[in-house]
Amino acid sequence: MIDFYSDTKTRPSRSMREAMLDAPVGDEQKGEDPTTAALEARVADMLGKEAAVFLPSGTLCNEIALRVWLKPGETLIGDRACHIITSEGGAPAALAGAMVHPLDSADGVLDPEAVRGAISPASRYASATRLVCVEQTFNLKGGVVWPVDQLDAVAAIAHGAGLATHMDGARLMNAVVASGAGAAQHAAGYDSVWIDFTKGLGAPVGAVLAGSRGFIEEAWRLKQQMGGAMRQSGVIAAMCSFALDHNVERLAEDHELARNLAVRLADLPNIASITRPQTNLIFMDIAQAGPTAAAVVEFCRQRGVQIGAFGARRIRLVTHLDVGPADLDPLYAALAAGLHQS
Ligand SMILES: Cc1ncc(COP(=O)(O)O)c(C=O)c1O
Repeated sequence: MIDFYSDTKTRPSRSMREAMLDAPVGDEQKGEDPTTAALEARVADMLGKEAAVFLPSGTLCNEIALRVWLKPGETLIGDRACHIITSEGGAPAALAGAMVHPLDSADGVLDPEAVRGAISPASRYASATRLVCVEQTFNLKGGVVWPVDQLDAVAAIAHGAGLATHMDGARLMNAVVASGAGAAQHAAGYDSVWIDFTKGLGAPVGAVLAGSRGFIEEAWRLKQQMGGAMRQSGVIAAMCSFALDHNVERLAEDHELARNLAVRLADLPNIASITRPQTNLIFMDIAQAGPTAAAVVEFCRQRGVQIGAFGARRIRLVTHLDVGPADLDPLYAALAAGLHQS
């Protein structure tokens, strides 16, 4: 199967697996795993934060951060299409008791003035707004990169109003490579931020959440409480360190592949619109006269090509470590034939 469904589909390479073999390990819950500790220190430094904690998934990073920042009944602001609001099973409500104030935007990059307008006035009646969440890059709008000055502008408004700021950095390293600005620059205005190792970085498990020492202390308490504390996690942390050593700069290849793919897709029949990829994600909308996204996905699957349906007429394609230029022809052929169906 040629898999353009998601960058989460990458499989750890042989050399990444070999990185586990000699990794020193210990009991992570007790702070005795040197490989995990080294990864946490490295990511904290890279993101310009005091401390960091290793977690099994990006979702847990988001949800622990929400629980640190919000008491039940308090509100977070985020784009309506962000992962925290759309794709975490209602966890902000279920786990943090959070209210959500969703904002609309064209591309996932929030207008600072819209953020200002969404902050509730201090009132006994209103839910208190406590947190602004951003997503870098923005998944469901096509891997859009927030410009650093826009990140800073939103953070300044949030902090000016006494709110905390959180960055979902599932694909922050894609933004770093695409923009040329360092990870710490992107994260400078954000009180909590995390990166995921299981997207374009190609590791099988792991994410690291960073922030101040006090934030991480509280995050650790919640990690323990929610069952996220581990034992000899150095074996997986070693693969994450390997990913930082070997798989960051090469994200540029994924971005180039996505750009080349988008150019070819413009020739396809029954396409209403295609996003212009800034990183590794492409969304395309099928015209009303064409088949449904589900029908195209199934047609391609039967021809050995996996792609994603994100809505009745919306298809997502993602480039990553395990697809390359040679996979474009079979993808294009399957899509061209699939889109001709009615
Ligand atoms: C923007 C974004 N945030 C969070 C996540 C959750 O990450 P994980 O799959 O590691 O829980 C994803 C996963 O696809 C994502 O795309």
